Amino acid sequence: MTRVRFGRDFGELEVSLGTTLLAAAARAKAPLGNACRGQGVCRACAVRVVSGAQLLDTAGELERQMQLEPGWRMACKTHVQRPGLLQLWIPHWGGDPSAPSG
Ligand code: FES
Repeated sequence: MTRVRFGRDFGELEVSLGTTLLAAAARAKAPLGNACRGQGVCRACAVRVVSGAQLLDTAGELERQMQLEPGWRMACKTHVQRPGLLQLWIPHWGGDPSAPSG
């Protein structure tokens, strides 16, 4: 299991390995865009990985074509692969990802 924290305001939960970040956010009720319903074409699900990037699978072709900012991943196409603590952030979830985590 991997523990995932959603910004300042949406708490954290444990997910099984293989879970997408989009599915994890949905379970946490952390609002995240999914205009294309996880097809990997809308960019609406982009999420910043504040810590724990090493727990995730590497970006596939579709995601690389999106050319997201460094540190951002496409939540619908990114899977948790290793146990640990993962911290995600979008502005809507509150908090400042640059601040030290506690
Ligand atoms: S939901 Fe559209 S790219 Fe992820």
